[in-house]
Amino acid sequence: MSKQTFYVTTPIYYVNDVPHIGHAYTTVAADVLARYKRMCGYDVFFLTGTDEHGQKIEQAALKKGITPKELADSVVERFKSLWVKLNISNDKFIRTTDESHKKAVQKIFKKMQENGDIYLGEYEGWYCTPCETYWTETQLLDGNNCPSCGRETQKLKEPSYFFRMSKYQDTLLKYIEENPDFIQPPSRKNEIVSFIKEGLKDLSVSRVSFKWGIPVPGDDKHVIYVWIDALTNYISGIGYVDENEEFKKFWPADVHLVGKDILRFHTVYWPTMLMSAGLPLPKKVFAHGWWTVEGQKMSKSLGNAIDPNWLVDTFGVDAIRYFLLREVPFGLDGDFSFKALIHRINGDLANDLGNLLNRTLGMVKRYFKGIIPEYKVEDETDIELFKKVEEVFNEVDKHIDSIAFNKALMSIWTLVAELNKYIDKNAPWMLAKDDSQRDRLETVLYVVLDGIRILSLLIYPFMPKTSEEIRNQLNIKIDIFKESFEDLKKVKLLKSGNKIGEVKQLFPRIDEKEFLDRVTAENKKSEPEKVVEEITINDFSKVIIKAGKILEAEKIGKSEKLLKLKVDLGNGDIRQIVAGVAKSYEPGALVGKTVAVVSNLKPAKLMGVKSEGMILAAWVGDKHVVVELADEVPAGSVIK
Ligand code: MSP
Repeated sequence: MSKQTFYVTTPIYYVNDVPHIGHAYTTVAADVLARYKRMCGYDVFFLTGTDEHGQKIEQAALKKGITPKELADSVVERFKSLWVKLNISNDKFIRTTDESHKKAVQKIFKKMQENGDIYLGEYEGWYCTPCETYWTETQLLDGNNCPSCGRETQKLKEPSYFFRMSKYQDTLLKYIEENPDFIQPPSRKNEIVSFIKEGLKDLSVSRVSFKWGIPVPGDDKHVIYVWIDALTNYISGIGYVDENEEFKKFWPADVHLVGKDILRFHTVYWPTMLMSAGLPLPKKVFAHGWWTVEGQKMSKSLGNAIDPNWLVDTFGVDAIRYFLLREVPFGLDGDFSFKALIHRINGDLANDLGNLLNRTLGMVKRYFKGIIPEYKVEDETDIELFKKVEEVFNEVDKHIDSIAFNKALMSIWTLVAELNKYIDKNAPWMLAKDDSQRDRLETVLYVVLDGIRILSLLIYPFMPKTSEEIRNQLNIKIDIFKESFEDLKKVKLLKSGNKIGEVKQLFPRIDEKEFLDRVTAENKKSEPEKVVEEITINDFSKVIIKAGKILEAEKIGKSEKLLKLKVDLGNGDIRQIVAGVAKSYEPGALVGKTVAVVSNLKPAKLMGVKSEGMILAAWVGDKHVVVELADEVPAGSVIK
């Protein structure tokens, strides 16, 4: 009989960002599912990779003065090396710049075309020329302004291919209704259903305004929309181009794990694309929540995105894997804090699990010279414990199936607690004092050792290294993939008579205060490196900074940020300048100040108001402080 299959994916990560714990989270979660199913004997395929096309990546590369492919190549290495460090067991790493992926995207596009679902039309959006980006009306700030640079955008049109997504509205609703597990967790389903019920519009699926992407087959002025490109990775990664054996074996996927922000792409765009191409839909899409760090949203500008490499180096890979999946129910948002992490390491890992192993092996050494004893005299407490083992295996299986990692771990830790209780109840140290209880003493220690062997299996998907370490300390030499899991689950399987291995502490305790002091002193070692671009003196000399005296200042309409200033730049050059400092200064407080002004900046309109220059200001804590010049500097003086 052929093995049951299991196909799990992560989103493919953009290469304009370096990996952070948000990325690590999904990938570790997918790894746990893959490892669990492999252990249960499934034929597993686990896919992850990188999303490398699109305008954002083209722009990020341009800023660094390199090609998009060069940028991708360097960031891809960071993802790959992090996955090695986090012990990720992916079967393939897909890049959307891979030739086979490009062919697959063109193939699905053609299939959709053949099915009459692609037509040429015009895409209309709000275009920011300096950023070369289209925005939708709802994304614009203060009127028509670009959410990225604040400058005015223009309504523009460009030719675009459209996907007749509207055609699939009813079929998709029906599919969601008939497959209650398709969108998980259930709380997210309603959100998607009401979005679809509002009416699915046709989707613009190509662009002519940039080049970094996969050309539309037969019309290479257009590149294919980045989400069509990206979503296709889930089939291109298993051989959709030639629909090989692997593709037949693993498609449809059992589960796509994604963050809540990209659920709509996966439960509306992706299934309708697949319907159009005549392919079956994935069985489940599960949206997890978002992490904040010490209560704050992670962002590049705050520099608080924690580098997972540093975390692993500092706390160890399994402590991080455990924390991410134990701390927060998968599906809900969570907060990453050092306090919470240290609490989990010291409590669950060092105390509960680590001590259990340590005290047991200590007694085996003390009472039996390190030789694994035999199961001899049964007692009720043993039977209860064996029952508990069976219960925990069942619970863990149920929780992993419903992707409730924290519940699976909680359940495993009830067994840890039971084993600790079993030791206390049977008090081997008392039995050891009485020679007539020697057989019972053997039995008690055997039961605990066998229970620890079982724990090593249960924690394997979450903490593969610790799982192996425990088996090494018990001196068990089994390949858990060669044995049948159903057999390994049985109790009393541990071989007696062997000598235990070298005893080591699994998780050293961390002194919270000492750690926090050190991290603060090391000045947040976890901050990502900032790439500072150097400029030449010629670059700098292009900027003409002059002293300007502020003559008038007033608020602009309802804007909270902007002030309209009248500034004297000397020699009769009076300018109107819009400055984003309204949250820091009452208009009157600026009048009379002599400030530094970039005088040769191309005029722009901000909220419809013309601005002919820019005032320099420092960002201090949470407010602006303008760069003021001494009174004796006359307006118009050039600052070099
Ligand atoms: N490239 C797209 C996905 C295409 S999949 C066909 C993308 N990439 S991403 O790099 O921006 O995000 C990848 C994943 O990281 C998303 O699932 C997103 O939810 C997740 N996270 C990004 N920041 C996160 C947190 N702060 N916390 C948890 N996950 C977060 O979107």
